[in-house]
Amino acid sequence: MSLDRKIYGKTPDGDSVFLFTLTNANKLEAKITNYGGILVSLMVPDREGKLEDIVLGFDTFAEYLKKNRYFGAIVGRYCNRIANGKFSIDGVEYSCSKNEGENQLHGGVRGFDKVVWDVNEISGSQGDGLVLTYLSKNGEEGYPGNLSVSVTYLLTNQNELRIEYSAKTDQTTVLNLTQHSYFNLSGERLEDVRGCDLMLNADHFTPVNESLIPTGEIRTVRGTVMDFTHSVKIAENAEKGDSSLLSQGGYDHNWVLNNPDGKLILAARTIEPSSGRGMEVHTTEPGLQFYTGNFLDGSLIGKGGKAYQKHAGYCFETQHFPDSPNHSNFPTTLLKPDDSYTQSTIFRFFAN
Ligand code: GLA
Repeated sequence: MSLDRKIYGKTPDGDSVFLFTLTNANKLEAKITNYGGILVSLMVPDREGKLEDIVLGFDTFAEYLKKNRYFGAIVGRYCNRIANGKFSIDGVEYSCSKNEGENQLHGGVRGFDKVVWDVNEISGSQGDGLVLTYLSKNGEEGYPGNLSVSVTYLLTNQNELRIEYSAKTDQTTVLNLTQHSYFNLSGERLEDVRGCDLMLNADHFTPVNESLIPTGEIRTVRGTVMDFTHSVKIAENAEKGDSSLLSQGGYDHNWVLNNPDGKLILAARTIEPSSGRGMEVHTTEPGLQFYTGNFLDGSLIGKGGKAYQKHAGYCFETQHFPDSPNHSNFPTTLLKPDDSYTQSTIFRFFAN
């Protein structure tokens, strides 16, 4: 196990940011920066033991500043969308910054993916890690309350990347945090992720309109292209039924996890057939946005000078449902001063 720290670069505001390298007892290696809490690279073995980087991103810090598509970042205050950038708390209407047409996406113009977090290194019997903290001031991106957020990344010797979130506010606000890594378990070959097998532990999903805002309905996955209750190849499932449910020819939807009590449950399991690499996602959250990189179109040049084509990566964004502040039938995203926000999410890696 080891933990190394070096200077990664400077933001336009002159803040130095660091790149940390965590290595576990089995040689898995995670590189994480305190700019946006971005997971920059993650080296994981295939069935032959070959380590390869399985997350999309860039070779330099300058590119993360310029070409940010939430690659590997911590997203907040509100990940996913808020319709018309508006919500009400106790009869008071708030407007948050709009950065996707009329709506807000992933926390607005300068969300948690674009701020510099304070950082502390931790080391324990389970593995090494980082504690990132950030104070989001009252009014930031239109949200009420001073919010202190803490995100702990831990790389364990059980080949897990554990992410523990916590937050406190001094005024009632809304909060929805996630981690936005784009995974490609084939490593450098960047195989189309729709060739992977996938199981999602969810009997329902939240249908959306053309702007990817939930209609409010909670619909069964049975008999639809959304049914991943049994492991199936993603591309085959997408062809099985009504493709109008898809977005840009792919998945970009919130599944309602079978997790009514907020326990740490297995939410997703995926296997990439050629490398044998697999990943499980465990979470305490009620929802999971499964996104197949539909907006990637080859124009973004990533690590090693490779163009990221459509479906070059998939994201497993454990979260509360999109636009929850405007849907009283969705689990609440309100955070009151007396409450504490917590979330645990684990990405567990294996090969077979
Ligand atoms: C999420 C959204 C997508 C897209 C990506 C970022 O997954 O649901 O629609 O905005 O983030 O590109």
